[in-house]
Amino acid sequence: MQRIAITGATGYLASLVQLYNRGRFEFVPIRRTDVNYSHPDEAERFFSSIDADLVFHTAANATTAACENDPVGTDLVNRDSAIAIGRACQATGKRMVFISTEQVFNGLSCPGPFDETTEPCSVTRYGQQKAAVDAWMRESLDDYVTVRLSWMFGMALPGVKPSPGILGNVLRALRTDTPTKFTCNERRCMTYAQRLAAQFAQVCALPSGLYHFASANTLTTYESARLVAERLGACAADIERLILPDTVRYADRFRDFRLDASKAQAVGIELGSFAEDVDLCLSDFGW
Ligand SMILES: NC(=O)c1ccc[n+]([C@@H]2O[C@H](COP(=O)([O-])OP(=O)(O)OC[C@H]3O[C@@H](n4cnc5c(N)ncnc54)[C@H](OP(=O)(O)O)[C@@H]3O)[C@@H](O)[C@H]2O)c1
Repeated sequence: MQRIAITGATGYLASLVQLYNRGRFEFVPIRRTDVNYSHPDEAERFFSSIDADLVFHTAANATTAACENDPVGTDLVNRDSAIAIGRACQATGKRMVFISTEQVFNGLSCPGPFDETTEPCSVTRYGQQKAAVDAWMRESLDDYVTVRLSWMFGMALPGVKPSPGILGNVLRALRTDTPTKFTCNERRCMTYAQRLAAQFAQVCALPSGLYHFASANTLTTYESARLVAERLGACAADIERLILPDTVRYADRFRDFRLDASKAQAVGIELGSFAEDVDLCLSDFGW
């Protein structure tokens, strides 16, 4: 059985991937207590001697504000340690699978969706850190898969705590009766996280390269939030009262972060539309 070292092992996507692929791979979970990603040289030493066939690197500080507030510290974690792990993989003949983000395109003014040939342009430190790793991997590694994800969503499972997503944000607004704003000036390909977990084996076996992995979406984030509320069964009056349009955020420049996933789909990765993903998620969780 293939041995996969998985970093950020207790995080959302890593724990979901492990849950869905238990019998398929032998996972070697790497937690914060095993490696300090503030010290890239330590990370390189650790992964140079790890007994695994492939390294799936998910650990990162993915909070945009944290990256802006501590650019130097998060550069070490999100950029330099990822590159150090890549160097260790290259030196020891292991495939590296890395999760990148739609945020590498958040500085573009032209409309998406963007494919893998689009040059990244990011105005946030988090996006710049991920873009730097993507570029380094492409130039330096012989055997790698970079998966650029959009904003993932899902529900909690035993041992799996979703990071903030559109479904959780809408559910919270409805359940706590809290009017909540969603921006009208943004389009993203929000994707059900189980798409990744259920197709993890296929992702690990992709031909070496960069892939966009996201379901299609033509709706703004505000329209997407309304769709989620409808599918959750909220009545029209509650949707009007609780799911509010935010016309101010990103009014300066419309943000289109959408990813074109045709390349991954052409080699057999199954993705849908945002509405299909919401329905799939609610059906999986017996809504
Ligand atoms: N979720 C999304 O919508 C999304 C979209 C695009 C890309 N991504 C990328 O996907 C990956 C996983 O995301 P996620 O949502 O699963 O995030 P998550 O739940 O926050 O998990 C991140 C993991 O990284 C670990 N980590 C963070 N800083 C660390 C450090 N300095 N040293 C060691 N470990 C550290 C965390 O450890 P602790 O648990 O100990 O804090 C956690 O296990 C990230 O690389 C993220 O950038 C996520």
